Amino acid sequence: MMIEKIKTGIPGLDEITNGGFIKGTNVLVTGGTGTGKTIFCTQSLYYGARDYDEPGVFVTLEERPDDIRREAMQFGWDLKKLEEDGKLIIIDAASSKAGVPTSEPYALRRGFDISTLAQEIYKATKEINAERVVIDSLSSLGIRFESLTAIRTAIFKIASLLNDLNTTSLLTSEITSRNELSRFGVEEFIAQGIIVLYLNEERGELKRSLVVRKMRFTKHSLKVVPFEISDKGIVILPSSGI
Ligand SMILES: Nc1ncnc2c1ncn2[C@@H]1O[C@H](COP(=O)(O)OP(=O)(O)O)[C@@H](O)[C@H]1O
Ligand SMILES: [Mg+2]
Repeated sequence: MMIEKIKTGIPGLDEITNGGFIKGTNVLVTGGTGTGKTIFCTQSLYYGARDYDEPGVFVTLEERPDDIRREAMQFGWDLKKLEEDGKLIIIDAASSKAGVPTSEPYALRRGFDISTLAQEIYKATKEINAERVVIDSLSSLGIRFESLTAIRTAIFKIASLLNDLNTTSLLTSEITSRNELSRFGVEEFIAQGIIVLYLNEERGELKRSLVVRKMRFTKHSLKVVPFEISDKGIVILPSSGI
């Protein structure tokens, strides 16, 4: 079987993943709030589209697209330009979840449901021949008061769609404790790779680090490596290596 790798767009991460993400797989990016999951995904999608000619679809379920664009701009990532060039589509799934109107061109206009979301992802991916997809976050696919079974079914549906589309996908999952990998206990099973982001206290200061916890079909580092969010985005600090 041929294993094709694609660049992560995160300086230092290609080295510890032994060459990048494996093309066509789903990678779960998990961590507590503020650990950098959204920035990680935006960065990877941005450089994929800009430098490697791999168009991307960003599905946002938590933040409004304008907030994603504004946050990206801090790091010099002009998402609007990529959108205009047909290299990026941002699907606003956050507004319909919140029940507020949106003027975004790609949105779920008739309310939030998983089948509609799947259709929108399918259409957008085909429209620009997207090779990368971000779903931020899987945790938000669940609607309050819905059963755990319904949420798990939704996650499986989206994951199998991404498998069918053969995109390389980053799926975020928000966790509340260090001991868990996902909120609903299934996210880790639909992913061929898992990257965990941490924010831990060291002598009165929070320090960022990450680990590649799982990456099927390849060897990879198991070291917890420190990283920073600089004005250029996420950079893994030296001290890494396989
Ligand atoms: N320009 C910046 N420079 C440095 N750190 C930043 C910058 N912008 C945001 N951050 C950091 O990134 C965090 C948010 O990252 P985000 O990807 O939204 O986290 P998550 O999605 O995991 O909740 C902020 O809490 C802040 O610590
Ligand atoms: Mg986020």
